[in-house]
Amino acid sequence: MLLLRAGVTMLVALIFLAVLREAALGGQESQVAHISADFSQVRARVNQRFLSVAIDSNLATEDMKFMQLLRSQKLRTLTQALSPAFLRFGGTKQDIMVFSPDEAPLDTPDFQRGGPSAGAARLCDGMVLPADLEERLKQDWPQQQLLLQEEETVSSYGKIKFSGDAMDMLYSFANCSGFDLIFGLNAALRTKTNSWDSRNAETLLAYCEQKGYNMSWELGNEPNSYEKKFGIRLDGHQLGQDFMHLRRILQASRLYRDASLYGPDISQPRGYRLTLLEKFLKSGAEAINVCTWHHYYVNGRETSRKDFLDPVVLDSLMAKTNEVLQIVDRVSPGKRVWLGETSSAYGGGAVGLSDTFLAGFMWLDKLGLAAKQGLDVVIRQALIGAGTYHLVDNNLDPVPDYWLSVLYKRLVGSEVLDAAFSSGDRDGRLRVYLHCTRRDRPDFRSGSVTLFALNLDEAMVQLALPHHVANSSAQAFVLEAGVSDPGDLQSRWVRLNGEVLKMVNDTTLPPLRGTTLPPGKPLRLPGFSFAFWVLQDAGAPACS
Ligand SMILES: *[C@@H]1O[C@H](CO)[C@@H](O)[C@H](O)[C@H]1NC(C)=O
Ligand SMILES: *[C@@H]1O[C@H](CO)[C@@H](O)[C@H](O)[C@H]1NC(C)=O
Ligand SMILES: *[C@@H]1O[C@H](CO)[C@@H](O)[C@H](O)[C@H]1NC(C)=O
Ligand SMILES: *[C@@H]1O[C@H](CO)[C@@H](O)[C@H](O)[C@H]1NC(C)=O
Repeated sequence: MLLLRAGVTMLVALIFLAVLREAALGGQESQVAHISADFSQVRARVNQRFLSVAIDSNLATEDMKFMQLLRSQKLRTLTQALSPAFLRFGGTKQDIMVFSPDEAPLDTPDFQRGGPSAGAARLCDGMVLPADLEERLKQDWPQQQLLLQEEETVSSYGKIKFSGDAMDMLYSFANCSGFDLIFGLNAALRTKTNSWDSRNAETLLAYCEQKGYNMSWELGNEPNSYEKKFGIRLDGHQLGQDFMHLRRILQASRLYRDASLYGPDISQPRGYRLTLLEKFLKSGAEAINVCTWHHYYVNGRETSRKDFLDPVVLDSLMAKTNEVLQIVDRVSPGKRVWLGETSSAYGGGAVGLSDTFLAGFMWLDKLGLAAKQGLDVVIRQALIGAGTYHLVDNNLDPVPDYWLSVLYKRLVGSEVLDAAFSSGDRDGRLRVYLHCTRRDRPDFRSGSVTLFALNLDEAMVQLALPHHVANSSAQAFVLEAGVSDPGDLQSRWVRLNGEVLKMVNDTTLPPLRGTTLPPGKPLRLPGFSFAFWVLQDAGAPACS
């Protein structure tokens, strides 16, 4: 696998050198970047649910009251547009969460419960949250967020409860949105001999099995920091054994015999965490379907606007990914790797940055790089909830990264192709990625490719397509900041081809139309913007 990667890298380097030479010979074309691309080979193939999302388990604090937000019609409309995807429910609080099936029911007389006898349609209709309750929850939520932020900085945590009701609500939300639910079990429940105490998890599994909930599982969140958080010392070998134990429990279940299990959800690699991962894989790789790790570029409290536009910061993901891939390739070759939880800045995001247009540079570049490096799924922290790195804010309104995600879902397919450009001296400030166009969209032709690019510079760049597709008709989806030109990068608004994106109403999104470009014209990428172009006549053999 490593050899293959090295080979591909060399090929790209060769193409790259060739176009550099051409640029040097061609003289003063600094504002035009000539794209070169290989349309014949698939470099990597990612999961159909590549762009996925998380909800932090801290939504269940305060007696699970805010879980009710999952019944909002508006939120469901927004979520459905991101399907198919995984929905991961996990985070720090998952490791203090105890399942109590009969805990006082939520105040939901109108919520129709699922179960084997409930038809899917009836279940989803029973979801809808009354408008007055939605308003009340939205008003109370900011206060709860402040509490959660304070708790981030203290080391000991009380237990929180998770009821059967809350589970029903979570599953219905995922199912009615067309999402596959991943539930993170509590691994900090330990026996006297410091192995995992699985009894509470078994109660939860039995509950979900009896309800017929088809879902997959994780065990523990960022176990590398258990000592700091809970005073629990846990080495990788024991963690692997704990996963093997969970795998045996799943195998004994009729419904979960073949269910997927993901882990170990470690924080990004450095020092001891790498040892933890390696030892975990040595003893537990057999138990997991996929190896997961978490990634944030920066600390939310220490970052600034500059970081979000810094190519060095964006490139740091590549090195971290390679560190993880090297261990997995060595200890457990062929095992798929996911970014199991990821966003711009840790600690809840960066205020005034993570929920603005600016965050899109980190998000889109992460999607591009991760796919190129062969990561199979990227789970965005968070769909909704505490922090500022959410896709849907406290008022249940979508932020710019939400619209970027929907466009990515609609336009970008699973097959990753190689693309490069003649760079001049752009220092990584122009970033270009190429995939097949999503195949299951009838409106795009077979062989169609989607090019996407980010411009981290002030000056507009023109992208000249390779000769053989220069005349392809193209649809452009250019995203720029703010409500008018020049846009404020820290705006809560984003324009698609000049038009500000807003929901039409609680059940309808705007059409998200592309602009058809005349054949033969270079693609225009304004300063500090990003864009997708669908080249419908590319006739790429890799995409037919
Ligand atoms: C939702 O549930 C229905 C009925 O149980 C099932 O047919 C469907 O596959 C589920 N969808 C997802 C995405 O899990
Ligand atoms: C559960 O969901 C997975 C993934 O969507 C699907 O492949 C599988 O067939 C489903 N199993 C059942 C029993 O519905
Ligand atoms: C593209 O169109 C131009 C003008 O019609 C033509 O001269 C050129 O040969 C075409 N290029 C290709 C590759 O078809
Ligand atoms: C929302 O807008 C759509 C499209 O304009 C319309 O068909 C639908 O009736 C509207 N729904 C509500 C609840 O207003």
